Amino acid sequence: MQDTKEHWEKVFSTKLPEEVSWTQAVPLTSLSLIKQTGVSLSQPIIDIGGGDSRLADNLLADGFKDITVLDISGEALKRAQARLGANSQSVKWIESDIKGFKPNREYAVWHDRAAFHFLTDPEDVVQYANMVAKHVTGFLIIATFSETGPEKCSGLPISRYNEPEINTVFGAHFRLLQSFTENHITPFNTIQNFRFNLFSKK
Ligand SMILES: C[S@@+](CC[C@H](N)C(=O)[O-])C[C@H]1O[C@@H](n2cnc3c(N)ncnc32)[C@H](O)[C@@H]1O
Repeated sequence: MQDTKEHWEKVFSTKLPEEVSWTQAVPLTSLSLIKQTGVSLSQPIIDIGGGDSRLADNLLADGFKDITVLDISGEALKRAQARLGANSQSVKWIESDIKGFKPNREYAVWHDRAAFHFLTDPEDVVQYANMVAKHVTGFLIIATFSETGPEKCSGLPISRYNEPEINTVFGAHFRLLQSFTENHITPFNTIQNFRFNLFSKK
């Protein structure tokens, strides 16, 4: 069986953004939630499984100064860096599997759209929840496929979440401020129902 890194390196070296389901021209909901947190422009934000998403571009344009993008795929990060050109130097890039990732600092905002949901082993989910409890000082934004969303993403199995389920994962250390579903229209005009969750550290 292909391992996770191999899978994602292949995706990002063979498919264009308009050929993968998760692409968004502008990640409006994520940006809106980040702004709602009220964090200052100098506070640290990390995008987990950011891939070649345009979240970092938009945060930079909005004036955020301490942005980190983590992804398992070096190809995805290279693409985002090429797109950003000289501005890519203003972003910190981490090529790592989220499983076993040991952050060396704290983050005011931790954002994850469609990466956490690939963790299907309960032990990995617990480890992720422990990691954010330890390294997130402010807000946690987790977007997964909802209870009515697709059962796979990029051909891989995922875990879907309703509100009580996501609260069970993170609720010990975070207060759930908002949980809502949203239809994402893929580049090929299909619909994927996501659930966005905004938590604040207790
Ligand atoms: C469905 S895409 C979402 C990309 C981006 N967050 C967005 O919203 O456009 C999933 C991303 O998570 C990354 N990813 C998947 N499993 C990962 C893992 N175990 N550790 C780190 N990144 C991972 C993939 O390389 C890919 O960039």
